[in-house]
Amino acid sequence: MHYLCMITLLIASAAAFTNNLNQFLLNLDLPQTDLSSVDEKWIEQPLDHFDSKEKRTIKMRYFENLQFWKPNAPIFVFLGGEGEQDPKWISSDYDFLLTVEMAKETHGALFATEHRYYGKSLPDIPQDNTIEYFMFLSSHQALEDLASLIKMLKLNSKYKSSKVVVVGGSYSGNLAAWLRELHPQLVDAAISSSAPVLAKKDFKEYLDTVRYTFGKYGTDDCLDNIEKSYKTDEDLLKTPEGREKLKKKYNICPENDMTVLENQQFFFYWLEYFYLKSLSQYFLPHNIKGWCRQYRHIQREIKPIWRDGCHNVDFKSYDWTLDDSAAWFYQTCTEFGYGQTTSSEKQPFVHWNPLEFWLKFCKGFVKGDIERTIDEGVAKTNKRYGGLTPNVTKIVFTHGDMDPWHTLGVLQDLGPDAPVIMTNGSSHCGVLGVRRGEPEEMEKDRKHVKELIMKWISQ
Ligand SMILES: *[C@@H]1O[C@H](CO)[C@@H](O)[C@H](O)[C@H]1NC(C)=O
Ligand SMILES: *[C@@H]1O[C@H](CO)[C@@H](O)[C@H](O)[C@H]1NC(C)=O
Repeated sequence: MHYLCMITLLIASAAAFTNNLNQFLLNLDLPQTDLSSVDEKWIEQPLDHFDSKEKRTIKMRYFENLQFWKPNAPIFVFLGGEGEQDPKWISSDYDFLLTVEMAKETHGALFATEHRYYGKSLPDIPQDNTIEYFMFLSSHQALEDLASLIKMLKLNSKYKSSKVVVVGGSYSGNLAAWLRELHPQLVDAAISSSAPVLAKKDFKEYLDTVRYTFGKYGTDDCLDNIEKSYKTDEDLLKTPEGREKLKKKYNICPENDMTVLENQQFFFYWLEYFYLKSLSQYFLPHNIKGWCRQYRHIQREIKPIWRDGCHNVDFKSYDWTLDDSAAWFYQTCTEFGYGQTTSSEKQPFVHWNPLEFWLKFCKGFVKGDIERTIDEGVAKTNKRYGGLTPNVTKIVFTHGDMDPWHTLGVLQDLGPDAPVIMTNGSSHCGVLGVRRGEPEEMEKDRKHVKELIMKWISQ
């Protein structure tokens, strides 16, 4: 992947705060596909799986591809996470994607689900009251949606003897593990890729891994250059002339008041997102090295455009419509934390995004004490699903060492039938699709994953 292509992708990804799975697709050099093999389907779900008095429902979208299907073959369910589901994940001609490849080899049926409150799977609830709107958004509800979809599929006589394999990456990798944990009778095997199964409020280890990635895979002077340049930007914030310079350098909107702390924090948030987090999370060692070599050049040349031709870092004016990003913020504020703070002393990227900054994203989504809500949500999540030791078998956990999320994942085998595969030189969800420039071990590791799944579904 070239430098130019990479930059385009980074800009494309800035619109949404997080959408890890679709970002992975974006980063593959995808050939065209007509998607004619994939059908869009809907299933009506109870709005609240845990209260039978609640009679409202929510329509959940999913996709189906039966092109490879032969009787008695397995069912593969690719789980959607914090974003619109992309039918490309199960398109027949995309057999460089692990799920499609496995379905092709086994004549399996392919499904891809969309998580409630994301994409088109939205509740019919007025959006004027955010708290009421999001009341039925949780991983727990989403897992019951998945269970009821699989139950419905299994009622179809043609699938009666089919084994069910679920595949997920990032947050949906959590769901793959938790579905196997909560509904072992419905799911026979699972692939959980780059899943941050441990909820954590102050996820300061994220930037430690970014540092590791640039230190290990970058050029010798890369970390020093990054550190110096961050210090320079930090210094520029201290004087009126400096602030004007900074605005020019990054094409920050002229009306943005750079003396406001939140705006300063938001600026560093985007800067880190663009220049460091995305690279470590989604790219490959050769991208890191290439980027390090051009670092100064990039600093001068890039003028990301987020609004009206300039980069808006006015935190107050940010558009908080209830879209997919808001839904994900809601889940992080109420269930997972995952605040990628700058609290770690070991990371060299200055300290402008402390926990207090992350808590501000929860304003509007949470009634009362924000920090207490996160603490309680995090504790409940870890208690419910078991944190780093979920009670699961017939599941494989995969990680890449460059991926900052791996530190919240299962890194030790949980047993012979719940192993961990760590691939060095790989990033987020690397196992899910073949990429140009991926490390050599990846092919072997992907094959290992396939063999495990085949073994488990033939038992
Ligand atoms: C773990 O799961 C198994 C089977 O799914 C179950 O029998 C067992 O009771 C669970 N153990 C704990 C500690 O929950
Ligand atoms: C992966 O990298 C880590 C840290 O750099 C190292 O300790 C480990 O031995 C490596 N693993 C393999 C299989 O090369």
